[in-house]
Order: sequence, then C-alpha cells, then structure tokens
Amino acid sequence: MTDRIPCAILGASGYIGQHFARLLADHPTFAVAALGATERSEGRLLEEIWQLAEPPPSELEKFRIRRWSPAELSRRGIRLAFSALPSGTARDLESALVRRGISVFSNAADHRMDPSVPLLVPEVNGEHLALLGPPRRGRGILVTNPNCSATGLVLSMAPMMDLLRPKVVHVATYQSLSGAGYPGVPSLAITDNVVPFIQEEEEKLERESGRILGRLRDHRVVASPISFSAHCARVATREGHLEAVTVEAEARPGVSELRTAWRTFDPLARLGLPTAPHPPIEVRDEPDRPQPLRDRWAGRPTRARGMATVVGRIRWVPPFLRFFVLSHNAVRGGAGASVLNAEYALARGWDLTGGA
Ligand SMILES: NC(=O)c1ccc[n+]([C@@H]2O[C@H](COP(=O)([O-])OP(=O)(O)OC[C@H]3O[C@@H](n4cnc5c(N)ncnc54)[C@H](OP(=O)(O)O)[C@@H]3O)[C@@H](O)[C@H]2O)c1
Repeated sequence: MTDRIPCAILGASGYIGQHFARLLADHPTFAVAALGATERSEGRLLEEIWQLAEPPPSELEKFRIRRWSPAELSRRGIRLAFSALPSGTARDLESALVRRGISVFSNAADHRMDPSVPLLVPEVNGEHLALLGPPRRGRGILVTNPNCSATGLVLSMAPMMDLLRPKVVHVATYQSLSGAGYPGVPSLAITDNVVPFIQEEEEKLERESGRILGRLRDHRVVASPISFSAHCARVATREGHLEAVTVEAEARPGVSELRTAWRTFDPLARLGLPTAPHPPIEVRDEPDRPQPLRDRWAGRPTRARGMATVVGRIRWVPPFLRFFVLSHNAVRGGAGASVLNAEYALARGWDLTGGA
C-alpha cells in the first residue's frame, strides 16, 4: 500500500456501495481498507455479492464484507468513510463515526438539511464547505451530496442563474430503476408500466435544490428564492435519471447564449480533482438527446465517466425556457458525487487522515 488515505465503504453490498468500490479501487488518493454492511452480507467476498454489469475491481474482489462498528473502524486507524447507508440508519451511525474523528462523505438523506452540514455539489456551491468552520486536524467532518435527481437539476441551473434569473422551476422526472437500489422495484410492478410516485422524492428534489442554490449568510445557508415544483416518476430504464425542466425567469437570453454558458462552465478546471468531469455539463444539439441509454456515461476523462450532466432540447416556448437534463443517478447522483466531494474537501485544506 502506498500513502493513499485508507477509507471504509459503508453499505458496500448495495447498489451505491458497489459503485463506490468501482470508483475507489484504483483511486490515486484513497485506498479501500474496509467494506461494511449488515449480518446479511457478513463474511462474503465482494465478488460474491457483485451485481453491476462490469466485473468487480480485481484490487477488491477478494475483500470480505464485515459489520464494522465506528469503534472498530477507529481502532483500525480509519479516518475516512464513504456512506451508502439507507436513510434512517445513516443518522445515528454517521454521527457516531464523526464523533470518533472519522470524516464521512454521505449519500444518505438523513443529514442533508442539517444547518451545519454542507449539502455539496462542488461546481455549484463549493463555498458551502465553509459551514464546517476552518479545517482542523484530527476532527471528523460530515459532508452530504444531494438526492440523485437534484444533482442534475442544480448543475444545469448553476451556469444560467445570473443570465436567466429564474423565478419558478417546474421539473418532471423519468427516474431509472436503480435509483431504488437492490432489490428495488418488483419487476411485475414496473414492466409495461410507469409509476408516478416515488416516496418523498418530490419533496427532496424541491427542498435540496433550494438549499444548494442558496447563499451563505452568517454561517448559514439561506435557501434560494426560486420556487421549485416537481413531479417524479419511476420508469423502466436501468440507470440515468432524465428530467424535463420548464423555467419561468425574469430575463430571456437567447438559446445560443445559454448553450455557451453551459458549455464554458467548468469551475473546478484548475483543481486537478481526479473524479471531476471536464466539462461538467455536455450540451447535445440533436433533437432526440439526451437519452439514458446513450448519454448516461458522459464525462471525461475516463475516471469521470458518468459524472457529466447532459443538457439538450433547449428551446423557448414563451414565457418558458424548456430543456431536458440527464445524469447518472449512481455516479453523478451517488457514489461519484461523494468521491468528488472528498477530493474537493482535500483540495480545500481538509486533511481527512485524522493525523495529529
Ligand atoms: N440508488 C441510487 O441511485 C442512489 C442515489 C443517491 C443516493 N442514494 C442513497 O444511497 C444510499 C444507498 O442506496 P442504495 O441504492 O445503494 O441502497 P441498497 O442497494 O439498498 O444498499 C443498502 C446498503 O446498506 C447496507 N445496510 C443496511 N442497513 C445497514 C446497517 N444498519 N448498518 C450497515 N449497513 C447497512 C446494506 O447491507 P446488506 O446488503 O448487508 O443488507 C447495503 O449494503 C441510500 O441512502 C440512498 O437513498 C441512492
């Protein structure tokens, strides 16, 4: 092992956990040292529980999954954890990890709206990391990433905030099956069907988007005044959440001006973060894109595959601006988002090794 920072993946046997393993297996900065789950997966090798289409990473396939407690992780010298724990379970467990000096980068919803916890999309609200106060060695931090449908929406909004001055954003989602994890939606409920309900999804999409696009004032986030209104549906695609967006705005810039704003947006360009896509937003000009099947793995360089958000079908239907946006729910909206957040925190001066 090199001087890569040892880390744990919690919820490693689940859908997001496996994407974490895929992304962290040969990561230049982080090295997986523990895979955690419940008694259901205890003792099994990663290769035995693996369900993603591509093979498990060779570096980790013989790794055993265990039920790790925060105390055991701490005794093993682990100071960094990536969390793919289910909502409900995550709140206490993640807090216990942080109390032990372990920094947590979480996919779970439980702490996303806590006033002192950043809900971070580095290209959009990197400054919200300041909610943590100044970096201090040995202290664990907790950073969350948003719901998988909010990530694509806020990324697509960020470059046009000043240009468009949005007032109301209506969004209708077409969310893939993997957004529900394993075992997910029963096949008989979704084959030949669309389910126009995902528990709590519309509420999360609306409130998290408002918080991410909000401003920092006196060490708190003041939510954006934009009014968000969401319809969320589950459709029978495997991966990639597609969203139809309709914006009511104060300004009416031309479509070509908007395209340029999206295409030139790259606030992380100079930081050298391994998982950051450049550019983070790809614009398709074809009339039938983006599509989940064809665009879900957008993102360059290779390590950032699935990290770019794809925008298309941009048009004015006065007084509304309309477009579609697509992002990979498990990568940009899940594991990749947490990994990028950790890389960003490190670049911004957080140590993440807990070193004294
Ligand atoms: N799916 C997505 O696209 C997506 C996107 C963004 C965020 N998220 C969020 O990411 C989290 C994981 O989602 P998922 O889709 O990967 O779910 P999942 O496939 O159901 O996996 C859940 C994982 O958590 C483990 N787990 C459950 N209870 C635990 C406990 N008490 N202690 C330790 N581990 C426990 C499970 O272990 P066993 O296998 O041993 O039961 C499994 O490894 C959720 O909070 C979800 O909301 C999901």
